[in-house]
Amino acid sequence: MLSNPSLKYRPFPPVALADRQWPNRSITRAPIWMSTDLRDGNQALFEPMNAARKLRLFETLCGIGFKQIEVAFPSASQTDFDFVRQLITTHRIPDDVTIEVLSHARAPLLRRTVDSLRGARSAIVHIVNATSQPFRELVLGMSQAEVLAMAVDSVRLVKDLTAAQPDTDWRLQYSLETFTATELDYALAVADAVVEAWNATPDNQLILNLPSSVENATPNVYADQIEWMHRRIARRDSVVLSVHPHNDRGTAVAAAELALMAGAERVEGCLFGNGERTGNVDLVTLALNLYTQGIAPGLDFSDIDAVARSFEACTGLTVPPRQPYAGDLVFTAFSGSHQDAIKKGFAAQTADAVWNVPYLPFDPADVGRGYDAVIRVNSQSGKGGIAHLLESHYGLVLPRRLQVEFAQVVQRQADAEGGEIGHAQIWRLFKAEYLEANAPLYYLGHRLSDSADGQRIELDLHWRGAARCLVGEGNGPLDAAVAALAALDYAVTIRSYEERSLGPSRHGGDAQACAFVELAGPDSRTGYGVGIDDNLVTASIKALVSGINRLAG
Ligand code: KIV
Ligand code: ZN
Repeated sequence: MLSNPSLKYRPFPPVALADRQWPNRSITRAPIWMSTDLRDGNQALFEPMNAARKLRLFETLCGIGFKQIEVAFPSASQTDFDFVRQLITTHRIPDDVTIEVLSHARAPLLRRTVDSLRGARSAIVHIVNATSQPFRELVLGMSQAEVLAMAVDSVRLVKDLTAAQPDTDWRLQYSLETFTATELDYALAVADAVVEAWNATPDNQLILNLPSSVENATPNVYADQIEWMHRRIARRDSVVLSVHPHNDRGTAVAAAELALMAGAERVEGCLFGNGERTGNVDLVTLALNLYTQGIAPGLDFSDIDAVARSFEACTGLTVPPRQPYAGDLVFTAFSGSHQDAIKKGFAAQTADAVWNVPYLPFDPADVGRGYDAVIRVNSQSGKGGIAHLLESHYGLVLPRRLQVEFAQVVQRQADAEGGEIGHAQIWRLFKAEYLEANAPLYYLGHRLSDSADGQRIELDLHWRGAARCLVGEGNGPLDAAVAALAALDYAVTIRSYEERSLGPSRHGGDAQACAFVELAGPDSRTGYGVGIDDNLVTASIKALVSGINRLAG
């Protein structure tokens, strides 16, 4: 790395727009969406999609609800040309979907492009040429005037070519490639010239696309550039202002959102941000960002996993685990404090209320995800997550201090193993710690009868290997059992007692009683015992036995 990067890189110049309006605006409706997954996205793959994959992704895009889909670059590849023909001749295009195809602004390429669309019900011809100074001089070897003339000539040619195929409902899109690096007054001159050449009207609008072909400034600069154009385009009502943000700086979503505030009406991008280099703007994130602001995006991601699996199968790319809204881990909390807050949020959330769960800005159910993955346990987790898994999977609601105590057991295991601890392993740890220990005290059975004090109990047990029958009296069975056990050389006192019925378990089993006793031993150590049984009295005696074994064992 250079110690002085200013020797190599220059800051991108700001736009002179003192009275910019976009910072005071917010987005109030969804834009017109255009998916370029099958064109920009396809061009960026190691192995471009074959016809079968393109068709599958096309159908996925239609299913999501895209009404404008750029399907190919027909003058650049025979596969793409044939794909457009296949869509049209096999009637694969839904009535409310318009396909779009890209062409450079060269006469032979434009002819082949319009030819590929023969027989389409409706189509968008998308002409692109780069307008920025480095492209004009280094790549095209043309002056400003020559580039402008090329743009106008291309539009006129497409106007003639499409007029010769009157059965198709034609629209024109013009893209000023490298717009963000183009002198704004020159971009405006090209834009006005192509609008005029197409003779665009409010009933026959031209789609004017102003791409951030390479994202080279902060999103506010793009917003300024869009607002500057939006306020100056001569026939503004004859134009649909479109943006095409790339993600080189990782801020394409922000750039698209600010551009919409600045006057853009249409956004081009790809699912999960596929596209050249760092990709196009991610349309899933953009649409669901709108959704979480209460704005219907007009795109359906209610089964996000199905969309992601189709995308992966068609493109060979993977959706990373932290991809907004779609990644495997985006609704998962491992950290204890997050789990605790989420658990409380879930408990307070009612079905008809505005969504308000801490750390979960979005209801996973809205993209077809369950709540199972929300709380997962590893060494970073705390009592809340562990308690949530025991409750949601096994119907076991632990008293708060027992949650703290058992969390240490799980923590020891997580530290030793290093990985995630699933609900089944947590349940095994819980059983081993509280339900299965049978030494030094082994409970065999009991008999209860009434007595002057209330209840009399006879307890059959083994204590440190020797069979005993202990008798005690008290105002209830548990009290009587504590009195009986006082005969041992390890007397305990009860600090707290709770009983619950075990809620429905997802893993089978009939409803049972669950008792929790918090004991103090003769050495002042304290700890919980837990008992589960069909019978509540038996459950409470088992809890007592469990507590003594944990303290004395
Ligand atoms: O990034 C870009 O400028 C493009 C154009 C073809 C719109 O992909
Ligand atoms: Zn692009």
